[in-house]
Amino acid sequence: SNRIMLGPLVAAIDQGTSSTRFLVFNAKTAELLSHHQVEIKQSFPKEGWVEEDPKEILQSVYECMDRTCEKLTQLNIDISNIKAVGVTNQRETTIVWDKDTGEPLYNAIVWLDLRTQSTVERLINKTPGRNKNHLKHKTGLPISTYFSAVKLRWLMDNVEKVHEAVLSHRAMFGTVDSWLIWCLTGGKKGGVHCTDVTNASRTMLFNIHTMDWDPELCKYFDIPMEILPKVRSSSEIYGLMKISSKLKSGPLTGIPISGCLGDQSAALVGQMCFKDGQAKNTYGTGCFLLKNVGTKPVMSDHGLLTTVAYKLGRDKPACYALEGSVAIAGAVVRWLKDNLGIIQTSTELEQLAADVGTSYGCYFVPAFSGLYAPYWEPSARGIICGLTQFTNRSHLAFAALEAVCFQTREILDAMNQDSGIHLSQLQVDGGMTSNRLLMQLQADILCIPVVKPSMPETTALGAAMAAGAAEGVSVWSLNPEDLTEVTSERFEPQINPEESELRYARWKKAVQRAMNWET
Ligand code: G3P
Repeated sequence: SNRIMLGPLVAAIDQGTSSTRFLVFNAKTAELLSHHQVEIKQSFPKEGWVEEDPKEILQSVYECMDRTCEKLTQLNIDISNIKAVGVTNQRETTIVWDKDTGEPLYNAIVWLDLRTQSTVERLINKTPGRNKNHLKHKTGLPISTYFSAVKLRWLMDNVEKVHEAVLSHRAMFGTVDSWLIWCLTGGKKGGVHCTDVTNASRTMLFNIHTMDWDPELCKYFDIPMEILPKVRSSSEIYGLMKISSKLKSGPLTGIPISGCLGDQSAALVGQMCFKDGQAKNTYGTGCFLLKNVGTKPVMSDHGLLTTVAYKLGRDKPACYALEGSVAIAGAVVRWLKDNLGIIQTSTELEQLAADVGTSYGCYFVPAFSGLYAPYWEPSARGIICGLTQFTNRSHLAFAALEAVCFQTREILDAMNQDSGIHLSQLQVDGGMTSNRLLMQLQADILCIPVVKPSMPETTALGAAMAAGAAEGVSVWSLNPEDLTEVTSERFEPQINPEESELRYARWKKAVQRAMNWET
């Protein structure tokens, strides 16, 4: 047969909040050879609740793997060239399953979910001085609905099946990475129950100094440590894939899963931000700006999180990042589509906004899940203000895009204040960066250039790099000299800074209105 001769290939599973992807890269050139993407259903059973079905998530991974394998075969590329698989995932989303039956015991509680708001308020009220940063010295995080520990606590308190499984030692907890790796390495027949340091650092049970689960934190949330996965580095062989031979992806059986990173960490790696001070902003469902701060954790005085950026090998040092998390970015587009129906597809939004090129004084604060960084205010709710008879859906579309940019500006300001050094440009990636209007608007509102790589799948690339570089795989070199320069596109600021400041000041006023909505 006339198969194309390529060097080793590395694959990545990218399981995000809105969709799942499987991608295959050439390990020598970092070229993306083939991929497939499937959208994930979300359910909103009650106001503020956000759930996904763990089995559908797993199914979507199989579907993406099958379709990608098919496409590779059509391209005459031999699947057996794939030497490793990396996993990258939406972080914090919480799953509990039964290790004997392999069945999830409840839906996945998605990171955006607000059901734990009252629990969080109660916990904060109990701390000395009502201090939401009470656990920050160990975790780098404020007490918030965002992180896994409170979601897990809710499951143990409110779902009888979870409660019973914990008592009878059958329960396993995991974020999406753990669930997928366990299932893909054999599930109830010997699956590996593990997570990596980056995902662990988002649970609020992990001590970012000792780099392990913290007994005191587990006690604080009253969570038995035996249900937690084993914490590993972000780049090592966790186990081998076991896939039914009935599937098109069956030939992937035996390939090591050797990379694991939360999606925001993976994007940092994929953007090659390996040096202290380098940063990237990813526009997905939410929007996350991470800055590499090196091998010592740095605590923020301006509402940013301290998180583990990556640890690329068992014997390699951990690197930390400061993170500004924005809950709603792409999610506002989906809301305009699914809830308001003012657009049919996400791409329509750009055209609609471009038709007017201004919001005409309309400001949209999409605080659907409260406000995250730098405010950490769970009781904030979304508002749209500045409406007149003149306002139409185009202005609303523009205001929605502008909201994403303003939220990033707030994060960047906090980042600059924390370090005293100003970023001179912003590296970006993620689905929304294909929206050129958004990119230009972002440069205008930040008053610095925005730089976007021409290969947009940086998150998957980071996971593939970690998997390919793992000890025992070693088909991808992470030496700075060997890393291929990425080609990119630049957006320069085009409006004057005074105009930009004026709009930003109005946005800030709108944010104040969105705060403490219920009180
Ligand atoms: O912390 C949540 C984050 O990991 C989700 O990322 O890309 O699904 O918005 P994304």
